[in-house]
Amino acid sequence: MSTAVEEHVETSASGKAGIPMMTITVRIRRYNPEVDAAPHWVDYQVTADPTARILDSLHKIKWEQDGSLTFRRSCAHGVCGSDAMRINGKNRLACKALVKDLNPTSAITVEPIQGLPVLKDLVVDMEPFFQAYRDVKPFLIAHGNEPTRERIQSQKDRDRFDDTTKCILCAACTTSCPVFWTDGQYFGPAAIVNAHRFIFDSRDDGANERLEILNDREGVWRCRTTFNCTEACPRGIQITQAIAEVKRALITRRVI
Ligand code: SF4
Ligand code: FES
Repeated sequence: MSTAVEEHVETSASGKAGIPMMTITVRIRRYNPEVDAAPHWVDYQVTADPTARILDSLHKIKWEQDGSLTFRRSCAHGVCGSDAMRINGKNRLACKALVKDLNPTSAITVEPIQGLPVLKDLVVDMEPFFQAYRDVKPFLIAHGNEPTRERIQSQKDRDRFDDTTKCILCAACTTSCPVFWTDGQYFGPAAIVNAHRFIFDSRDDGANERLEILNDREGVWRCRTTFNCTEACPRGIQITQAIAEVKRALITRRVI
């Protein structure tokens, strides 16, 4: 006859999909500027369902082992873009990275995204990233009289920029870009993606304005086509292609 305690142990020994739970090591780059001279790695042992996300393990560490661990997250479902971090050396959303895909028999490393100042642990100062985003005027610019009804657009015209509408501003692309690491002034792929979204929108009249902004020495020509951004994007946006299309529009002065 099994006791209540035994039943509890049995249930907790397997995860949601009936896959056995495992003990993993999460190696986190910690940094508290108020007390630490430099960042340092700390290992945490966590019981994890292999099919769960690394975000769940971070929650477990924070709630059960060390409440001072600091990271951003909101939706936990790949929508808000707030939990981009460098996991096992690659930029990913913690809420989409599954333990089983991260070689969990070795320590899983978690560190902040690179190229932006670290405020604490996994939290970086996103302001330079958002400034570049604001600089490309990510809103509809329309001249002439206000229409009396909504601005109509054909399905074909809408499809032209569909891919770049998917951006969730997570910064995984920009902070995986070697040009951005060496020159924080570079607009970065995310800003170019969001400029693309409006440059190729048939309802918008601001394409020339935005193209001139991206013609800057820190603009689109700094891209060295390393594809890091495209590989890092959790939304699967063809970022390198979008950048190439903006370059082509600048050369030909035609937006098609
Ligand atoms: S383009 Fe992709 S990786 Fe870059 S900010 Fe947008 S969603 Fe994130
Ligand atoms: S928490 Fe919102 S995208 Fe991961």
